[in-house]
Amino acid sequence: MRKKIIAGNWKMNYSVNQAEDFVYSIKDSINTSEVDVVICPNFVSLDRVSEALDGTNIMLGAQNVYFEDKGAYTGETSVDMLASVGVRYCIVGHSERREYFKETDEIVNKKAKKLLEKDIYPIICVGESLEQRENNTYFEVVEKEVRGSLEGIEKDIIASKVVIAYEPIWAIGTGKTATAEQANEMCKYIRNVVSKMYDEDTASKVRIQYGGSVKPSNANEILNMSDIDGALVGGASLTNDFTAIVNY
Ligand code: 13P
Repeated sequence: MRKKIIAGNWKMNYSVNQAEDFVYSIKDSINTSEVDVVICPNFVSLDRVSEALDGTNIMLGAQNVYFEDKGAYTGETSVDMLASVGVRYCIVGHSERREYFKETDEIVNKKAKKLLEKDIYPIICVGESLEQRENNTYFEVVEKEVRGSLEGIEKDIIASKVVIAYEPIWAIGTGKTATAEQANEMCKYIRNVVSKMYDEDTASKVRIQYGGSVKPSNANEILNMSDIDGALVGGASLTNDFTAIVNY
């Protein structure tokens, strides 16, 4: 039985004080008994949010990391730095990073492997653009991202520590959600790719989230689909809606 995982990706929102205030305002109403809940603030807020989450089961996530250990990489943040403030999960390969910061599958793969070396669990994002959806190349686009991002990661690690997030780019921040059937179809397809890369047992264990305009009104339907094991929530994770989604 795969435990659901719901993560809030705050993206570039909230100052440190706002982040802390928001966490204090929601943390007692978030039910973590059946769902893994992760909050991913901006780097500068990680430490303060970590303190604010103390005593809860809500886990801390980061939105990015660099794959080198340390040194002359101005502006970058290492896995050890994330670990030092209590980060347990880290988003890698978000479509915004792939698009604006030119992250390739190879970079995403290096980041995921480096995180796993220090036992921080990667949330690896994949997903097609509107153009790719419309010209019917979306299965092959997503398959290539999954294969490239997971390459060389051992099957036991895939089964127990890696999370894949399917986020169709056309559904991100647009209010346009994929239908639950469309989302499930792709999550099932991704599971099949994992099965081809590894085996059926690994595929049956890996957790696959859906992301893209998840909100309280659609969370229940999406989260009840057979192959969707959670949600990666953007805009709605900045408000009380996040509580409603987690308690779906
Ligand atoms: P929205 O929920 O705002 O569409 O964002 C989804 C997302 O990109 C989460 O990583």
